[in-house]
Amino acid sequence: MKKRFSAAVLTALLSVVVASSALGQSAKGAAVEIDLGARLKEAEASPRLLEAANKTGSKVASFCANCHGEGGNSTNPDTPNLAGQNTSYLLEQLRQFADGRRRNIFMEGMIRALSADEKVGVVLYYSQQDVTFKPPANAALASKGQEYYNKICFRCHGDQGRGNDKIARIAGQQPGYLALTLKRYRDGSGVRTDPLMAANTKAMNDADIAAVVAYVASMH
Ligand code: HEC
Ligand code: HEC
Repeated sequence: MKKRFSAAVLTALLSVVVASSALGQSAKGAAVEIDLGARLKEAEASPRLLEAANKTGSKVASFCANCHGEGGNSTNPDTPNLAGQNTSYLLEQLRQFADGRRRNIFMEGMIRALSADEKVGVVLYYSQQDVTFKPPANAALASKGQEYYNKICFRCHGDQGRGNDKIARIAGQQPGYLALTLKRYRDGSGVRTDPLMAANTKAMNDADIAAVVAYVASMH
């Protein structure tokens, strides 16, 4: 079992990363934006770069594991798994945290403090980890959710919930996080917005969400 940081240590680390990110920005001034997508493709195409990126990524991930779990399999229902997530989707979320389109005070500060190589490395590392299967806690509810899923959600997230390069994998995602996320899209809370997900959650009531979450969390 990996040693966890205490809340106090995490808070101290956060203040360090936020301070260093502010310094980095002022030192670099109007530095040219690095094309992370191109970096990622470069690393994927070269065994040597891929090995280096994975090494960097697993080092960064040992910090992320405090919340996202070993190998990106979270043990907290409200914190998402990162294991098995699609690369372009992951990169896009890192961009959204960094520029404030997606709000989470801790993630925003931390992602701004990562270098381009650390971002690409951690994305590649998590995309290659296996997701731990969780059997449904309530099989009847999950089978109701499966019906809903197969009418609406499969069109983009796929029959098996694995999405594609741009669309999130949702199979096996943590239930508390799924419910919170779907309600945020539906309610237009501003914490996280996406026109496709707003349109596809508009008609869902809380019972529909509970059923779909029971199903999606048990997909694998
Ligand atoms: C203190 C706990 C904590 C730490 C440490 C942490 N995260 Fe997070 N992360 C969260 C929470 C909570 C969320 C969900 C935010 C929300 O509600 O949208 C999240 C969301 C994410 C997401 C979006 C996932 C998705 O499915 O859309 C990514 C990507 C992510 N984190 C990457 C990282 C990386 C990379 C690291 C390490 C450098 C890291 N996180 C460290 C708590 C943490
Ligand atoms: C028209 C395509 C489309 C349909 C249909 C759709 N989604 Fe999505 N979904 C997306 C896109 C695109 C994103 C990424 C949005 C973003 O970046 O915030 C997404 C994101 C999500 C996320 C966030 C994933 C994460 O890791 O944070 C969840 C959960 C989700 N969708 C569940 C569903 C469910 C459940 C349904 C059916 C009720 C559904 N989606 C229907 C396109 C779709």
